[in-house]
Order: sequence, then C-alpha cells, then structure tokens
Amino acid sequence: MRLQGKVALVTGAARRVGRSIAMALAQRGAKIAIHYHHSRNEAQRLADEVRDSFGREAFLFKADLADVRDVQKMAQAVVKQFKTVHVLVNNASVYEKTPFGDVAAADWDANLNVNLRAPFFLSQEIGAVMKENGEGKIVNIADWAGKRPYADYIPYCVSKAGLLALNAALAKALAPEVQVNAVLPGPVLLPESFSPKARQAVINATLVKRLGSPEDVAQAVLFLLEGSDFITGAEINVDGGRMIA
Ligand SMILES: NC(=O)c1ccc[n+]([C@@H]2O[C@H](COP(=O)([O-])OP(=O)(O)OC[C@H]3O[C@@H](n4cnc5c(N)ncnc54)[C@H](OP(=O)(O)O)[C@@H]3O)[C@@H](O)[C@H]2O)c1
Repeated sequence: MRLQGKVALVTGAARRVGRSIAMALAQRGAKIAIHYHHSRNEAQRLADEVRDSFGREAFLFKADLADVRDVQKMAQAVVKQFKTVHVLVNNASVYEKTPFGDVAAADWDANLNVNLRAPFFLSQEIGAVMKENGEGKIVNIADWAGKRPYADYIPYCVSKAGLLALNAALAKALAPEVQVNAVLPGPVLLPESFSPKARQAVINATLVKRLGSPEDVAQAVLFLLEGSDFITGAEINVDGGRMIA
C-alpha cells in the first residue's frame, strides 16, 4: 500500500511512540486521525505539526478506550470526517505496575479493556470499512512481554498476549482485503518514572546493550504498511534482541 493520500487512525497518538508513528505516516503522505484521551494539548501540537511540516490533514478524536461505546463512537466519527479509513494503528495502552497479590479487578479491567477489547472493537468497526474499500492495513502494537510475561505486570502482559491472538484472528477474519500485523517493541521509551539504575538494568538485558527509540517502532510500522502487502498475521520484534537474550 502507498500511504500517499491514505487515511490513518493512530490511537494514543499525542505523545511518545504514538506520536512518532503518526509523524512517520504523515511524512509518507497520509492524512492522520489523531486519537487521544487526556493529552489534548499534545494532540493539538501534533496536528499543527502534521499540517505545517507535511501539509497533511489532521483531526483530533477524543475517546476513553476503556469505554466500548466511546470506541465505537470514535470509529464512526473518523469515518464521518474522512469518509473512509485505510490504516488503523492500535497503539494506545495502559502500562501500570500491578504486583501479584495486589491486583484489583479494576487493574485487570483497565488493562484488558484498553489494550485488548478496544483494539478488537475498533478493528471490527474500521475493518468493515476497509473490507468494503477492498484494501486496508491494521498494525497492533503489542510487546515482547506478551510472550515473556513479567510477574509484576500480569494484567498488562496478558492483555498483550491476547492482542497477539487477536492479531492472528483478525488477519483471518479480514482476509483477503485487509492485512493485520503486530509490532512487538522492547524497551524503546521507558516510563518517565524509571530510576537510572532501573534504566541500566533494562539496557543490560538487551543484546544490543542500548535502548531503542520510538522511531524504531515507527519504521517497523511503515515497513508493514508500505513494504509488502503479502505479510499478514505476522509479528515483528523491535526489541534489541531482548526476547532471546
Ligand atoms: N515505550 C516502550 O518502551 C514500549 C515497550 C513495549 C511495548 N510498548 C507498546 O508501545 C505502545 C506505545 O508505547 P508508549 O510507551 O508510547 O505508550 P504510553 O505512553 O504508555 O501510552 C500511550 C497512550 O495511550 C493512551 N491511553 C492510555 N489509556 C487510555 C484510555 N483509557 N483511553 C484512551 N487512550 C488511553 C494515552 O493517551 P493520552 O495521553 O491522550 O491520555 C497515552 O498517551 C503501547 O502499546 C505499549 O504497550 C512500548
């Protein structure tokens, strides 16, 4: 698929990795539907930058992805605004430490609803539009930890493992028109709360002995969108070798 003139919805696009993905898609000529929840100012800055730097259309869509009605309303609003959607990047996510023994039902629901249920219902809505168009691409931003779960982040890791199952299931459900793939980042942008010691431990645990960057994830997304239309149901690790270290 060529991104020039296509419409791409990126969830959690206002900051961090989502912002890099949205900028990379805009640079390739896509119009961007910028989803955000709390980061309105950052989302507005991104929209301004997309318009000023690349001359592309960009509109903001606010939704709480924990609320399935909000998810569906957003999908409909994006289709109404742009008339169609060609690309969906399921990037938004909850990532909170939830030590085993202290996990509350609310923690479980927050992780599963935002990281797994929302991508499913968004893909169901947007996937139908893509099938009708005869083409489309969905990229799910998962995590290597969906395959090697951390004990202190069980709801998160389970949600990402579920997202990988969803990735394969959607590839089947939306074939042959729509290709659905996953990117599994390793440490590309640590939570702002990480101490220097925790940061170094993460670096040491990779094969390449450094952190990646949001742009590494964005490049993998670009490859899945523009590099080949023959890849579907696939998973690409962008983890500096963390999975096999
Ligand atoms: N950063 C890494 O090193 C790393 C490593 C492995 C995997 N990943 C994956 O890569 C993706 C991006 O990572 P990141 O670190 O940039 O993510 P992040 O900063 O933790 O979160 C991205 C966005 O998700 C949105 N979000 C959270 N809860 C939401 C809700 N209830 N409704 C709607 N939006 C909600 C937030 O939007 P607002 O700010 O607008 O509220 C937030 O800015 C995630 O899927 C993450 O799991 C990242």
